[in-house]
Amino acid sequence: MRIATVTFNPAIDQTITLDRLIPGEVHRARSVRQDAGGKGINVASCLADWGVPVSVFGLLGQANAALFETLFAQKAIHDRFLRVSGDTRVNMKLVDDADTTDINMSGAAVEEAQVAAVEQAVADFAGPDTLIVLSGSLPPGCHPGVYADMIRTLSDRGAKVLLDTSGPALTQALRAATLPAIVKPNRRELAAWSGEPLDGLDDVVRCAETLLRRGVALVVVSMGEDGALFLSDEGAILAKLAAGPLASTVGAGDAMVAGLAAGISEGASLERIARLSTAFAVAKLGRTGPHLPSGATIDSLAGQVMIRQVAKTGPAMTGEDA
Ligand SMILES: Nc1ncnc2c1ncn2[C@@H]1O[C@H](COP(=O)(O)OP(=O)(O)OP(=O)(O)O)[C@@H](O)[C@H]1O
Ligand SMILES: [Mg+2]
Repeated sequence: MRIATVTFNPAIDQTITLDRLIPGEVHRARSVRQDAGGKGINVASCLADWGVPVSVFGLLGQANAALFETLFAQKAIHDRFLRVSGDTRVNMKLVDDADTTDINMSGAAVEEAQVAAVEQAVADFAGPDTLIVLSGSLPPGCHPGVYADMIRTLSDRGAKVLLDTSGPALTQALRAATLPAIVKPNRRELAAWSGEPLDGLDDVVRCAETLLRRGVALVVVSMGEDGALFLSDEGAILAKLAAGPLASTVGAGDAMVAGLAAGISEGASLERIARLSTAFAVAKLGRTGPHLPSGATIDSLAGQVMIRQVAKTGPAMTGEDA
């Protein structure tokens, strides 16, 4: 199975470490590092570490593309990004001993023709034996229905689409006639879509079931340290693994998406998909960037994942018609 990820809104993550952040003061940075970021890029980076060939599509500012190009070259990721004039946005993280302060830039507006060119390139890549991962937020200038449109086009070409986004882009995609084959909201994103608080596990199961009934083949709801719920016509599984020392919780969801893609591409059972994607996510928690340890370490973690079958029962609830 050929795999591609799409990132319309990549970012450079700049981490500045300080002794103590005091508003209004001049600071001397202890260290500064820059990492190529963006959800689809993180997914591709984890897949490459696992040894799965992957192509990356989207929009990249040509003025500061070198950091991305280095990552793609290091991991043999097939670079299909369209270069646009200007810079890719920079997201700043100010880290001191107490806290992390995030300053995210929205980035320059993209042009309709640029988005259309990416859509076309991905459609040309897509076919019956392909998995396309659509990840992350949309940049200014990009219409919120772009994922919904792509899901229809790509599904018509026989591709499986995995969607991981939030807000209006998620709402529009889940309202469309053609739904993605796989969707991975976190609990907060699913709650926002459904309009329900989804406090208990039962509520999450019932809400996820409404998506299964409407034709999504695999629904995965990630719940941070509470693990994740996996629902398909094979059943419902809650999977969880205690994390070791946390290096960074950023991108755990992206690593989980990479694990889903890896499992689906090997035609795995629901339980194997749950084990593998949980192992990817928890392994990533021990690292700063979107990187995985060796395959042997992942296999060992996958074997340790706690699996619990969950009853699928729920009657319809709000969100059914959303
Ligand atoms: N503290 C933790 N302990 C154990 N497992 C964790 C922890 N945090 C995350 N995970 C694992 O990672 C998965 C994905 O995490 P989470 O639900 O936070 O994703 P997310 O909100 O989509 O993250 P992001 O989009 O920022 O990458 C969880 O389902 C769980 O398996
Ligand atoms: Mg996420």
